[in-house]
Formats: sequence, structure tokens, C-alpha cells
Amino acid sequence: MNPDLDALKPYPFERLAALKAGVTPPEGLAPIPLTIGEPRHAPYAEALKALGAHLAEMGRYPATAGLPALRQAIADWTSWRFGLEGLDPESQVLPVNGTREAIFAFVQAALDRNRPAKVAIPNPFYQIYEGATLLAGGTPHYLACHADTGFLPDVGSVPAEVWRDVQILFVCSPGNPSGAVMPLTDFQALLALADEHDFVIASDECYSELYLDEDAPPAGLLEACAALGRHDYRRCLVFHSLSKRSNLPGLRSGFVAGDAELIGSFKRYRTYHGCAMSLPLQHASIAAWTDEAHVRDNRDAYRATFAAVTEVLAPVLDFPDPEASFYLWPAVPGGDDAAFARRLFAETHVSVLPGSFMGRPGTNGVNPGAGRVRLALVAETAIAQEAAERIRRFIERSA
Ligand SMILES: Cc1ncc(COP(=O)(O)O)c(C=O)c1O
Repeated sequence: MNPDLDALKPYPFERLAALKAGVTPPEGLAPIPLTIGEPRHAPYAEALKALGAHLAEMGRYPATAGLPALRQAIADWTSWRFGLEGLDPESQVLPVNGTREAIFAFVQAALDRNRPAKVAIPNPFYQIYEGATLLAGGTPHYLACHADTGFLPDVGSVPAEVWRDVQILFVCSPGNPSGAVMPLTDFQALLALADEHDFVIASDECYSELYLDEDAPPAGLLEACAALGRHDYRRCLVFHSLSKRSNLPGLRSGFVAGDAELIGSFKRYRTYHGCAMSLPLQHASIAAWTDEAHVRDNRDAYRATFAAVTEVLAPVLDFPDPEASFYLWPAVPGGDDAAFARRLFAETHVSVLPGSFMGRPGTNGVNPGAGRVRLALVAETAIAQEAAERIRRFIERSA
């Protein structure tokens, strides 16, 4: 087997299972998992209807490029959402089976192993950035995201000799695990760095539609390009998904968009990789990308949950003001995130993810995820609120 498989680190949920092993939570309390970022709101019904209406098309092979109607729907949505002059559905858009698959595959397609191959990734981070890098023969370079940088990657700390070897920079805004949103001007600063050091910016924007202030949608990388008149989106790719926006994580549907040259090479790779999206899924995706009402309803539901949970937890926990995504990223009393998560589970049957499990120690030996836990507020409001109340009582008892 490929020896690089041995370089893969245990997934945070494996580590969480080991942490909880042997612990018996109170029988009388129902379990409340705040661990996995899987939406629990109802999937967008019209998408499911479209899926059903096109089931007979399972009898046909789909093309890697996707249906022209899907690419058009994606180009229209992206142009509308990010104020672009336009996006060519032929050359600047590619449907993918969710952002996880696309992030992984893009790194395999893009990394040049014949020269130093660093991939700069936020830290703590969505694990696929690192796994994809290791399996592509690259080396991750971790960019600490801590309170002093507003939980955005500390790009200022990267020396020029590291940038020289960076081939891909991953950014994630709104961020997982912190929900931090990168301002347009930061994206523009990254564009200048990408030009100077000749790397690709891969912008994971899968949480872009889950934001709390209806009047302040998060900026995106293509928007930053357009504002600079960079209409070819050179060196830039964005990754979007229906999983969170439309509560369709099982549909496995998203897209990449941006630089036509990168999309062209990625399409070529994907033709061999064999990951064309089946036709009924493409029709469901068209339905989802062409409706905004259900996305607004989804945001309203998250807003209600955030309001309920933050009201309960604010007196006992310190967390950055949530702006977007469905995560809360509090610092834990005492600073030991794994011990906190274990005791919380043992005493309240609420599961949270230790932040250190999502990060790696930097060159200074500090894991920027340590001391915090990630709460995925995906459950119905009443259940999330019940979890928050148990957490609060647990902290008050332990004080
Ligand atoms: C930051 C981030 N990127 C990508 C994904 C993958 O999402 P999907 O493959 O469902 O589009 C997730 C899923 O939780 C995520 O948190």
C-alpha cells in the first residue's frame, strides 16, 4: 500500500471516541452530541422532489463537467451572491460531490512533487486539508488562528522562504471551528501574496450562507478578485456546498469556481478520477442553487439557536461573538480542553469536540486549538438550549 497512508493522523472523532471510552454518563440524561457538524434542519424539499422526478436518469452516465443547466445555475448564483461581473459556466465552474471530495482531489491534481510542495493551512483546521496534502506527497505548513488574530490565519508570521515553497494556501471563511469571517481586505492581501510567491488560493467557503446578520453576508475570494478588477480570478478557486446552505449533506453536491486554467486541469484529473455527479443529484442541485427563501429560513433557525445558547452560556464561558457558521468556540475554564470534554460527557451526557484535536502544535510547540472546545449548534433550538443549560450548570458546579 501507499506508505503515505501511514502519515495520516487519527481523525478528531476517533480521538474523541478514545477520550470517552470507559466513561458512563448519567443514565437519566438523554445524550446531546454537539460534536459533528451535520445539519439537522430539514433538507430543502424542492431539491428532494427534483431528485425523485429524475430518478429514471440513473440509467445514464453523467459527464464530469456536469449538465450545462447546473453550471449555469451555479454561475448565476455565484455572480449574484458575490457581485461578480460574470462567471463563464463553460470554463470557470465545475460541479463536485461536496467540498470534502473536491478539496481532497484538488490537492492531488494540483501539487507538483518535483519541487518543494508546501500547503499552507489554517490551524486548527478541517482535517481534509492536511490529509489531502500528506497523500499528495506535500508538507503542511500550519498557520495559527488564535484570539490575537481574530481566529484568522496568522499569515504575517510566515517567512519568505516558506512562501517560496507554498503551492497552495487554504483559507476557510467562515471558519471551522471558530466561525471567524475573513474581511474582503484580508482576501485582497492574500491575492498580493499569491502573486508575489506564485501559489494558488483555495478558499473553502462551505459555510458562507450561514451568517447571523442578514445585512452582512461574508465576503468571498472571487468577490475580492472582482473588486480589484481581477475578472480572470487568476490563482483562485472557491469551494462551495449545498450541505450546510440547503441541509443536504447526504446529497454530496457542491462546486468549485474560479481560474479557468486551474478548472481545466482539475476537470482533466476528474475525468480519470471518475467522480461525475449522477444526473438526479444534478437536478436536485439546480433546484437548490436557484432558491434563496429556504436558505433565509435556515439562517433564521440558526439565529434562534445561537441566541438561545449564547444567552445561557455567556455568563460562564468566554467565546468570540458568533458571526457565521454553526459553531461556538469557547475557551474552557482551567484550559484543558480534553479533560473538560471528558468530564462534561461523564456528568451531563453532552459531547463537545476538544479544540486541540483539530489542531497541531506549531513551531513554537503551541497547539492553537488547545484550551477551547467546538460546539456544533446543529440540533433544534430546544435541544441545543438544553445542552447549554447542562454545560452552564456543570461549570457552575465545578467552579
Ligand atoms: C470547513 C469544511 N469544509 C468542507 C466540509 C465538507 O463539506 P461537504 O463535503 O459536505 O461539502 C466541511 C464539513 O463539515 C467543513 O467543515
